[in-house]
Amino acid sequence: MEVPALTLVTLLALLPPAQPCSSEMNKVKDLLEVNCTGQALSAVPPDLPADTGILLLSDNRLESLSTTAFLSLTQLQDIDLANNGLVALHTGALLLSLKELTLSHNALAALPFLEGLPALTHLAVAHNSLETLAPGAFRTVPQLQNLDLRGNKMQQLPQEAFAGLKALKELDLSDNLLKELPKELLQDLKKLETLWLSGNQLQTLPTDFFPKGHFFMYVFLTENPWHYNVLNCRTYVVLCCNCFCSNYAHKDAIHFPLSARFLIT
Ligand SMILES: *[C@@H]1O[C@H](CO)[C@@H](O)[C@H](O)[C@H]1NC(C)=O
Repeated sequence: MEVPALTLVTLLALLPPAQPCSSEMNKVKDLLEVNCTGQALSAVPPDLPADTGILLLSDNRLESLSTTAFLSLTQLQDIDLANNGLVALHTGALLLSLKELTLSHNALAALPFLEGLPALTHLAVAHNSLETLAPGAFRTVPQLQNLDLRGNKMQQLPQEAFAGLKALKELDLSDNLLKELPKELLQDLKKLETLWLSGNQLQTLPTDFFPKGHFFMYVFLTENPWHYNVLNCRTYVVLCCNCFCSNYAHKDAIHFPLSARFLIT
């Protein structure tokens, strides 16, 4: 049965107008920032400006998403998908310009397979439900500089969890349930400057866990049930050990400021 054209027009006129996302130039990044925050969206709006550089989609209802939704946005550099109840993300589509992806405060039980994002430098998957990582989980994103996995449910990690991340500078594993860490975990992370391990269940670290001769800007180790003797002064370096022992006794924050870099000899 044909719907009379007039009826259709009338019906469309009665629908509330689509709420367009606001957009403005982000002067710091010199990119067009489109703000679709908090609009109860269950799908990515189809009519976004073609030159969108930053896309804010947090606080919506994007529970399942494919990055093909962003394929037409060839200048897209940042996507914020925080707080969407996201359970699945498919990243098959090639997004050559995407540098920053925020997936924090969602319901991901496993890390999405990070295909099609070769330029990614920042990835945040904090406060999800990740229980572990696959070996080589980040091999497809070798430019990654900043990886935030804080506040998940990881109890252990495979030795090759961070394999290939030669550009990584910041790694946040705090507030997980880590009981132990593999000895070779940091092996490929030649550029790592800051490591967060606070708020886990660590009692010990493997001997030579910190690669020899590697300078760290900061290593955060607080709020773990460390065994007193664990960071043994002879195995680990004096600087670390001094900080650790004195701070341990005072139950103070163990945090190595720039002036006391964490050197392992
Ligand atoms: C985006 O829009 C929301 C809701 O209108 C607003 O609260 C928020 O401040 C905006 N964010 C930015 C970065 O402009």
